[in-house]
Amino acid sequence: MIKKIIIGNWKTNPSDPKIAKKLFTDLSRGLRKIKKTEVVICPPPFFQSLFLENKNNLIILGSQNIGLEKTGSYTGELSPRQLYFLGGKYSIIGHSEIRKNGETDEIIAKKIYEVISEGIIPILCIGETVRNESENFLKIIKNQIQKDLSLLSKDKFPKILIAYEPVWAIGEKAIREATVEEIKEMSIFIKKTVKEMFKIDKMPKILYGGSIDEINSEKILKLGGIDGLLVGRTSLDSKKFLKIISYAEENS
Ligand code: PGA
Repeated sequence: MIKKIIIGNWKTNPSDPKIAKKLFTDLSRGLRKIKKTEVVICPPPFFQSLFLENKNNLIILGSQNIGLEKTGSYTGELSPRQLYFLGGKYSIIGHSEIRKNGETDEIIAKKIYEVISEGIIPILCIGETVRNESENFLKIIKNQIQKDLSLLSKDKFPKILIAYEPVWAIGEKAIREATVEEIKEMSIFIKKTVKEMFKIDKMPKILYGGSIDEINSEKILKLGGIDGLLVGRTSLDSKKFLKIISYAEENS
């Protein structure tokens, strides 16, 4: 059985480092019996140092975004090399909340290339803003796959993660949740597209993200045809997040 991956994206939360520390500690405690699931937290940069105290390695550090530069005079940049030396393993790239501020597919492709060469695993987020009846959204997904993975060499494909995150299902402004059928269909579509476009045999892992909670996650992990979840708001509640992880454990 393939190990499931559950990723918590804290975004710009919480405001108080004491709350962040409690969340981190409660989560670490709850993970003692978890054996088969990989649990990743992407905290805001100010809280990444919490992970220096992470002696038992139950929680893996990821970043919510990444820069292109290693070290040097780049004010405000997030260095993939620094993330690596901090013990980080993953970086989210191309999240819709960053794309909407002007991040292009060309920049995303470069970021993927750079982080891999620094030993970090990219979690590429793709997804349509609206789901229209003309099925135009499939073209958008294809286009993102083609451009975002254009600099990746064939042998690196099995190392990356692709998170399908329909923008209409993300965050407080979500119109509705995606159905399990829609998630499964898109997982198959993404794998097929990647395979045909880049002529590779070994697939990246496919994750799903968008309004995941302790209720819908059980069915999605069981029937959604995915290797894991990217969780926003619900990852800020350790009890609910641990519930999601327990479903992943049952399905790993
Ligand atoms: P949400 O966020 O779970 O709060 O909808 C998901 C995401 O943005 O990755």
